[in-house]
Amino acid sequence: MRIIKNIHELIGIVPEGIPRKVGSMMDEVISIKDAFIVIKDGRIMDFGESGDCPETGPSDEVIDASGGMVMPMFCDSHTHVCYAGSREQEFIDKINGLSYEEIAARGGGILNSADLLHATSEDDLYLQTMERVNEMIAKGTGAIEIKSGYGLTTDDELKMLRVIKRVKETSPAIIKSTFLGAHAVGRAFAGRQGEYVDLVCEEMIPAVAVEGLADYVDVFCDEGFFTPEETARILEAGENHGLIPKIHANELACSGGVQVGVSHGALSVDHLERTTEAEIRALKGTETMPTMLPGSSFFLGMPYGRAKDFIKAGLGVALASDYNPGSSPSGDMRFVMSLGCIKMRLTPKQAFNACTINSAYAMGISDEAGSITRGKKANLLITKPLSSLATIPYCYQSPFIERIII
Ligand code: NIG
Ligand code: FE
Repeated sequence: MRIIKNIHELIGIVPEGIPRKVGSMMDEVISIKDAFIVIKDGRIMDFGESGDCPETGPSDEVIDASGGMVMPMFCDSHTHVCYAGSREQEFIDKINGLSYEEIAARGGGILNSADLLHATSEDDLYLQTMERVNEMIAKGTGAIEIKSGYGLTTDDELKMLRVIKRVKETSPAIIKSTFLGAHAVGRAFAGRQGEYVDLVCEEMIPAVAVEGLADYVDVFCDEGFFTPEETARILEAGENHGLIPKIHANELACSGGVQVGVSHGALSVDHLERTTEAEIRALKGTETMPTMLPGSSFFLGMPYGRAKDFIKAGLGVALASDYNPGSSPSGDMRFVMSLGCIKMRLTPKQAFNACTINSAYAMGISDEAGSITRGKKANLLITKPLSSLATIPYCYQSPFIERIII
């Protein structure tokens, strides 16, 4: 057994059987002051007030939290960390006035990353991906969803997904993988988008399914990328192979992506920088988690998602980093939490729930991670002594992690 003692506050307790938080539930973060937590076989076995802490024996490891807080590690339900190289030249192009859409329309953007990935060996891609995953763990993230989508040929999409599988097998973080063949139209299919969609449905999805390489299927359903009709076809092909949808929608325009995602039982619909009441209505009463990515709003200078309106309407909201070379070259979930508070006006408690339990839900692991709950994986953070949970997003640059247990 491992026992963490001398915890000033144990935060993020969620009773068993609550997979996500919606509406006013997001205002609440349950905690215990002056607490202990017991870990056995990598799982949370028990926790409570210090006075109730069990006796420890010589074979137990006692960890002194030294008055810091203990919380679940962040869950990051939307990333593209499996990529090769970087896109710094486009960063400079953006500074000089080009938009994300203009760069994509000139054949740059995602296609640029696809060229780089094609020229990179599987081993090298694995090392580059692991470096990013390890950086994210060090910054407090214990579960990461990783998408393909920089292959855009059957072989290169499979290459990416095999790399993600290797990361799953070798990283201490919980990893989920998503097939995103419809991230952009591959160069060889320029001007033949319909034929590329055929390839995704008829060749890529069956090949991915045969090797069991993906947990989810994603489509970039947006202006200049894939239409709702094409998205529906791809999601149905995925469904036939047991892949649950998680989609990119409403980043560049009110694309109809939310509605198509919801009608296909999407686990999450992500981005949502541009939404109207119609999207909120479409999401109400569904199992789909709206997921917002404030890091890409920050990096691309786009509007931030209307998280407060979603919560007011009784919905849950998850936050994720979108870590990728084009729109969010950072996987720092603490910064995401700060942006949630500073730019989206979420309270620290709402932002905390969005980055932990709700993000766990949005990647299908809320029975395993995202809260302090008996039986869940003990992926935990011990913080430096902090005056309250709000210090984490407030002092958004000060180191706050003392130790990671994963
Ligand atoms: O989520 N919007 C689509 N995909 C990514 C960006 C990918 C890229 O530019 O490399 C995103 O922002
Ligand atoms: Fe994305």
